[in-house]
Amino acid sequence: MNSEEAKLTIKRITSELKQHSYQYYVLAQPSISDTEFDIMLKKLEALEKEYPQYQNPDSPTLKVGGSITKEFKNIVHKYPMLSLGNTYSEQELVEFDQRVTKAIGKQVPYVCELKFDGLAIGITYKDGKLVQAVTRGDGTKGDDVTENVKTIRSIPHQLKPGDYPDEFEIRGEIFMHRKAFEKMNAERAENGEQIYANPRNFAAGTIKLQDSAEVAKRPLDCYLYFIYADNLPIKSHAESLKVAERWGFPVCQHYVLCETITEALEFIHHWENKRNTLSFDIDGIVIKVDDYNIQNELGFTAKSPRWAISYKYKAQQAETILEKVSYQVGRTGAVTPVANLKPVLLAGTTVKRATLHNANEIERLDLCEGDWVFVEKGGEIIPKIIGVNLAKRKSGLSLVQYPTLCPECQSILSRKEGEAVHYCLNDTDCPPQIIGKIQHFISRKAMNMDGIGDETVEYFYREKLIKSIADLYDLPNKKERLLSLDRFGEKSVTKLLEGLEASKQMPFERVLFGLGIRFVGATVAKKLAMHFKTIDALMTASYDQLIEVDEIGERIAESVVKYFNMHSTELLIKHLRNKGLQLESKHIEKEPQSDMLKDKTFVISGTFTKNSREGLKEIIEENGGKMLSGISTKLNYLVAGENMGPAKLQKANDLNIPIISEDDLLNMLK
Ligand code: IVH
Repeated sequence: MNSEEAKLTIKRITSELKQHSYQYYVLAQPSISDTEFDIMLKKLEALEKEYPQYQNPDSPTLKVGGSITKEFKNIVHKYPMLSLGNTYSEQELVEFDQRVTKAIGKQVPYVCELKFDGLAIGITYKDGKLVQAVTRGDGTKGDDVTENVKTIRSIPHQLKPGDYPDEFEIRGEIFMHRKAFEKMNAERAENGEQIYANPRNFAAGTIKLQDSAEVAKRPLDCYLYFIYADNLPIKSHAESLKVAERWGFPVCQHYVLCETITEALEFIHHWENKRNTLSFDIDGIVIKVDDYNIQNELGFTAKSPRWAISYKYKAQQAETILEKVSYQVGRTGAVTPVANLKPVLLAGTTVKRATLHNANEIERLDLCEGDWVFVEKGGEIIPKIIGVNLAKRKSGLSLVQYPTLCPECQSILSRKEGEAVHYCLNDTDCPPQIIGKIQHFISRKAMNMDGIGDETVEYFYREKLIKSIADLYDLPNKKERLLSLDRFGEKSVTKLLEGLEASKQMPFERVLFGLGIRFVGATVAKKLAMHFKTIDALMTASYDQLIEVDEIGERIAESVVKYFNMHSTELLIKHLRNKGLQLESKHIEKEPQSDMLKDKTFVISGTFTKNSREGLKEIIEENGGKMLSGISTKLNYLVAGENMGPAKLQKANDLNIPIISEDDLLNMLK
């Protein structure tokens, strides 16, 4: 393809993809399959890479991630982002209607909409082009998250020609569909990453990420519900929803125009029962006076409009019988009580279990096995017991007694003073602890071992093939035995053995993390590996030497010393060494170039012209300086670049910390 043909093809595919996106996201009438869409997108991407000069600034390829924003700019809202008065009571809705009717002197129509459970966003368009997206923040000013919002596929970057004002802001709610949330959360759990409690938290956490390419990987969606502009030629809220849709915005179709509050209540009841059939979470219904003139007449209180109110649904509850409390032992020996319930339907799913957290919680609830209990799902994935229906308590039930022995290995449980959690201390013989430790060792973030998964570990343990991490590396000697197992053929055994062999090349920090030392997560393992460089140095490190390491506190130091003092650890390390695992760090730290910044501490913030942040950090450290993670009285210099956060600046000023530029820093080294 020559350059001219490429130019035309890029133009054609760009315009076709825009049309397909519009069909899919705005009209909800897909014109091609997802796969076809992706193939076209990939083709466009490849062409744009070869001929970047022809890339359209609004290319659909730019919608899937891009630049790194570093820190968010604070933007003052042109129109303050107010909240809504809310209520859980139908009576209060009737009173709201009475207030409105009295003030206006007649019955007024309302629009009822779903109250999306996400985070509010205000998006500004100039000449039909998305120019800025700002979070709610404190209502007066919010974060500029434009780059992140641009990755949301349903939000148009460029509107089709239409009758919209030259400049306007449209407000709405960003959220994540439940299915996407569950899928992504499951992936996070598998990767050992922290999981989010509900789709709202996931969406809120995502929109605040610094890297918009990462945001693009997390499927967010958005519904828009409010237009702000000077001299908007629109007369009512219902009309504004229609107009927004016509301009190309995603508008939720589940809204009604009601003549009376009774009709609004019907809408509320309808969705109370049907909310689980939606693909996303709602937490109530918003009722808005439809007519803009009447809205203006009613005006605002200091915080919220007098012409709107939200009715919030109560967290969904069910009542069922607590059949039994069982106790789960994790890989660290922590014991978690679990309520086993008579299955009951709650928020669209059958609930059989609820979390009880710890012994204090059981005591607080005053629980008996056989009690009728209230279970609640308040947006969290795992339901919780919120109380006992004492009126239904049968006589003769006895209070749940927290066990004194480990339910798995019968060792005595221990609870440190002031701590809520009980622990089984038998970490060498307690089955779930052993299985959990091996599962942790093979996991993605640790040794990322191919050919073996959590279930296989459990199976091998039950078959007495392995009872510690070390035994994994003896599996090659047990090939015949492996081949004799159900579900294991030549192919799977070969894969397993290859996976084991490959894991021997995993870097020291991964091995260290895989050992599962309490409080030593992936980041701490990296720090320790970099500092001590070899397992021998780490094994002999004293408590004092450990706490000298950056970011290693007393709790971690204590735990590391304790771990390496155990005889079982000594044997394990010996075995792993014999098998050829990496027990030394290959990372070579740069030799210091000078000590001109010795004893000086720095924080870097913003973006720079001559060096990247990482580059500046290296320069500081190579010259004996030390990076701090935040602004405190211990800080000597704040190196400020462009767009640095105002909060940091304020704090540094408050503490009288010198604020220097990139050039000032480089001059210090001359
Ligand atoms: S209207 C001035 N409509 O609820 C009124 N808000 O508690 C502007 N929300 O900040 C808000 N769904 O984040 C409106 N259909 C809806 C909504 C909605 C969710 C959120 C929004 C707002 C909060 C108020």
